[in-house]
Amino acid sequence: MKIAHLSDLHLYSVEGVPPWRFVNKRFTGWVNLRLKRGDRHRSAYVRAIAREIARRNVEHVVITGDLTNLALEPEFELARALVQDDLGLDPSRVTVVPGNHDLYTRGALSSRRFEQYFLPWQESDLPDLATDVGGGRFPVVKLRGPAAIVALSSAVPRLPFVAAGELGAAQLEALARILRHPEVTGRMLVLALHHPAVNRWSRVKTHLEGLRDAAALLELLGPVPRGLVLHGHLHRRIQRALATSAGKLQQVGATSASLHNEEPDRMAGFNLYELPTEGPARVEAIVYEPTTGLFLTDSVPKHV
Ligand SMILES: [Fe+2]
Repeated sequence: MKIAHLSDLHLYSVEGVPPWRFVNKRFTGWVNLRLKRGDRHRSAYVRAIAREIARRNVEHVVITGDLTNLALEPEFELARALVQDDLGLDPSRVTVVPGNHDLYTRGALSSRRFEQYFLPWQESDLPDLATDVGGGRFPVVKLRGPAAIVALSSAVPRLPFVAAGELGAAQLEALARILRHPEVTGRMLVLALHHPAVNRWSRVKTHLEGLRDAAALLELLGPVPRGLVLHGHLHRRIQRALATSAGKLQQVGATSASLHNEEPDRMAGFNLYELPTEGPARVEAIVYEPTTGLFLTDSVPKHV
């Protein structure tokens, strides 16, 4: 089974948005974007990547959040059009989780904007085990051949300059039940969330940018012998081994699919995974080359 993984599309549009909707965290986000991010995230790269994935006949696609920049409706329109038209796969073959930018404000949470736009992609095979996390119902489980794809929401609205994530007690409890389900234990676990499950940062940076309940998540994953933990958020390709009491998980991050960056582990692209019946998944990076429009195969750097 082949899975493609892209992340952090950061599609930007303020078309038709009245100025009063910037009187909140969105204002600092918008300034930040104009000052340093605007020219580095390019939507043409995301479209090229979506089309390349469509061409490669993968069985499933995972998108690990930050599809939008400011959680505005025109950005969600762009994101949905990209998934529907450029990727062009049936929603049953695509797993989408929100990132902190998709739940940027309390308004985006209370209006359940992510769910509004991506409901057809949120159909779970174990719907009774999902819980309401505010912006939608998670975890979403997709049982596909040898894989049990489990999508989590780690996105929560935060104060300006805070990008930290949290799964919350209710979602963790739901995940514990899912991890015990025979349809899941009999398959290879593919966990998808925006934030990485381990923080290798200082306490302050973890508090500002990391997954605040990462320790509780890792404890739940203890009995899992093998599988993938897919994330975004860092805007770089990276893999780490996560030791569990029963074996080892491969945590793999995808870079931002719109990012123009000269560093090879950050330049836009996507990851490809091949799931064997036993042993670890094969992990490859597919890197976009903007001058030629071609894609090059590379490895995903391993970190300890
Ligand atoms: Fe991001």
